[in-house]
Amino acid sequence: MKTKVLMVCLGNICRSPLAEGILKSKVGSKMVFVDSAGTAGYHVGNPPDQRSIAIAQKYGLDISTQKCRRFSEVDFQEFDYIYAMDRSNFSNIIKLANSKEDEKKVKLLLDEVDLGINEVPDPYYGGTDGFEKVYEMVDLACDAIAKKLELNGRG
Ligand code: 4NP
Repeated sequence: MKTKVLMVCLGNICRSPLAEGILKSKVGSKMVFVDSAGTAGYHVGNPPDQRSIAIAQKYGLDISTQKCRRFSEVDFQEFDYIYAMDRSNFSNIIKLANSKEDEKKVKLLLDEVDLGINEVPDPYYGGTDGFEKVYEMVDLACDAIAKKLELNGRG
């Protein structure tokens, strides 16, 4: 059985597509399935934001074929770990949980690392430097997740 990891932000076009692409690049696809979703439905069916595609490309990752989808309560059955980019995403996910077991699957992504902050800032309304910062923090968190999965023999 694969371990299934879901990355979640608000729009599923900026932060979580990067998190999906970055974690995929660090784990074996035979052992780990990685996906992403948004708590809002504004951009469903769209590819990631051009600025996320560009920053990923800068680091050698192609996320351009991803398609935005909305988080749904079915995801609690499908996934083992659900990572929220910020507290607002976290509480919107928790609102859809049907059990304590569902709730236990949800974590803030940056709780996996010690960066002094625990939210990935929303870069949507800012400049490209915001996307660079997002990339760097998500990359560190995904290193920690990949290491943890590896230690559990699931990387
Ligand atoms: P994301 O960024 O949650 O990292 O994908 C956003 C994308 C779109 C919007 C807000 C945040 N929006 O308001 O459309």
